[in-house]
Amino acid sequence: MERRDLPAFLGRRAEIAQIRRLLGRSRLVTLTGLSGAGKSRLAEEAAWSVRKAFAGGVHTVDVSQARDPATLARTTAETVRARDGRLLLVLDGVERLARPCAALADSLLRGAPGLRVLATGRRSLGLVGEHILPVGPLPPADAVALLAGRAPGRGVADLHRKAAARLCERLGRMPHTIELAAERLRADPDRAIEELLDDPFHETAARTALDRALELCSDDERHVWSRIAAAPGTFGLADVERACPDGPPPAELLDALIGLIDKSLLAREESGGAVRFRVPHAGAGLPSRPPGRDRPLPGPCRTGDLDGPRVLTRREHEVAELVADGLSNREVAEKLVISKRTAESHMEHILAKLNFSSRTQVAAWVARRRGDR
Ligand SMILES: Nc1ncnc2c1ncn2[C@@H]1O[C@H](COP(=O)(O)OP(=O)(O)OP(=O)(O)O)[C@@H](O)[C@H]1O
Ligand SMILES: [Mg+2]
Repeated sequence: MERRDLPAFLGRRAEIAQIRRLLGRSRLVTLTGLSGAGKSRLAEEAAWSVRKAFAGGVHTVDVSQARDPATLARTTAETVRARDGRLLLVLDGVERLARPCAALADSLLRGAPGLRVLATGRRSLGLVGEHILPVGPLPPADAVALLAGRAPGRGVADLHRKAAARLCERLGRMPHTIELAAERLRADPDRAIEELLDDPFHETAARTALDRALELCSDDERHVWSRIAAAPGTFGLADVERACPDGPPPAELLDALIGLIDKSLLAREESGGAVRFRVPHAGAGLPSRPPGRDRPLPGPCRTGDLDGPRVLTRREHEVAELVADGLSNREVAEKLVISKRTAESHMEHILAKLNFSSRTQVAAWVARRRGDR
């Protein structure tokens, strides 16, 4: 892997550590997030940090530049076949070719046991066994450091630190928009940071990220989004149903919510066993985290590591408990607000890990554990 000569990379240590861990136990990891969140740069840094574990090397494909899915599939498959030993394939920017990329990743992973795939996209690939890591805004201090680093000598260090912090908040702490602001500070030496605070230019830049996410949405997803986009705080499924009296019907409404979560337009939270949603942008219509949260949410994660440890994850335990209560996969999906396919995939992994062949065996196993408690 060649190291490109890029401006300094800031922060994201927890994310890099998490990607390293995930690549150790999962064969497909996808970084999702809005445009400009820093997915591609994070994937590049993470790939660099794990390169020594891949004797076959790291191969990066810029999917966003690919015009023809068939050529992309053929050339990537040829590269993978030509390499010996463990290989890390980075599929960067899969959103527009999510389906062909999913088919490609699936067939390559089946055919090459030493292969790991690290994908980035404004949406996930939707594969069973895919581990999703949402990439959110930078923590406040890293956001200011990025602004200072890209616009050196602009007083961010002392006098204007407060203004810089406010500007970064206003920019949603998104790396790409911060870089644009820094560029403007560099271009005009007389411009004060404060001046950019009320500059509609940045709102426009930030809206672009939302618009790009909406372009990938289905009609149902866009409809639901239009009804909930301005909602403050957190809300439940019943609130969404009330906000959308003219459809879509319940099953499709759930799919629409899952689709919005996948595209980082909606965040899903759990507290006390209840599922709540939150529109993760504030202020200037920009994505941001709730106060006190500086790491990306664990997110909807299609667990089921392809060759992971044979211990149930927390989520699989939850699914097993619900199965023991007699819920079907569809009911489990509704209860946990995950897709039916994800619930099915959890169930497959539970059966495989426990070496069971039926739901009854899972129910009996849960009952035994309950008895032990
Ligand atoms: N942690 C970081 N430190 C320094 N620069 C960063 C960081 N994260 C992102 N950047 C810079 O911000 C810009 C946007 O990042 P990047 O291209 O990775 O976004 P992205 O999420 O892949 O967007 P898109 O969905 O449009 O492809 C790039 O110039 C990148 O180098
Ligand atoms: Mg990118």
